[in-house]
Amino acid sequence: MQLHALNSNTSQLSEIQHFQVVWVYKKFIKGIVMKALTNLLVVLALVAGAVGVVLSFMTFGPAHPVPWIILAIIIIIPFLYNKFASDGYVHWNDKYSVNIPSIDDDHKRLIVLINQFISSTHYYNSKEFEQKALHELVDYTKYHFDREEKLMQDNGYPDYEEHHKQHEIMIKKVNEVVAKYTQNSETTVTETVDFLRDWLINHIQKTDQQYMSFFKDKNIS
Ligand SMILES: [Fe+2]
Repeated sequence: MQLHALNSNTSQLSEIQHFQVVWVYKKFIKGIVMKALTNLLVVLALVAGAVGVVLSFMTFGPAHPVPWIILAIIIIIPFLYNKFASDGYVHWNDKYSVNIPSIDDDHKRLIVLINQFISSTHYYNSKEFEQKALHELVDYTKYHFDREEKLMQDNGYPDYEEHHKQHEIMIKKVNEVVAKYTQNSETTVTETVDFLRDWLINHIQKTDQQYMSFFKDKNIS
């Protein structure tokens, strides 16, 4: 009887694993095919544009606006491609640096945790994995805010109270978004990912870069 139950559980488990493998495989292949098709379309558009420029210069001459318009379109295509073919992940950029290595490391860690959460929503995993990734991000955010605030207090940062308030508002908002996501992850996933991505970049660029010059004057690096 026990052996039968064990076999049945093993069979259910392998079915789930099989489903996971097939799901990830399909998603992965679909991603690669879509990316290859997009790249092919961009290359074709650029080649067609280049031919169009040459032909229109030969037909209309350099005084005519048509060849110049086609040339402008060719120049714009790579910019548009870079803008709209984003992979959705957050990438560290040196312009995010606050020139304090320990804080920069925290921000890089937060980026890794956000990307981990984004990955968990892209691929088939258990809901526990998504929740774990999300809570890890929230926990590290709180740890990071405590570290920033301690640095401010230890060095007599004059706008500490204001910064502390901003941290409290951010934690409240993050908790609200997490609660909403926990209740209904299917319909709020895009909203949650967009919020977290924008929230992190705003936190670094708008909130944290305010204290850069203060700590620089204090020779804290
Ligand atoms: Fe920060």
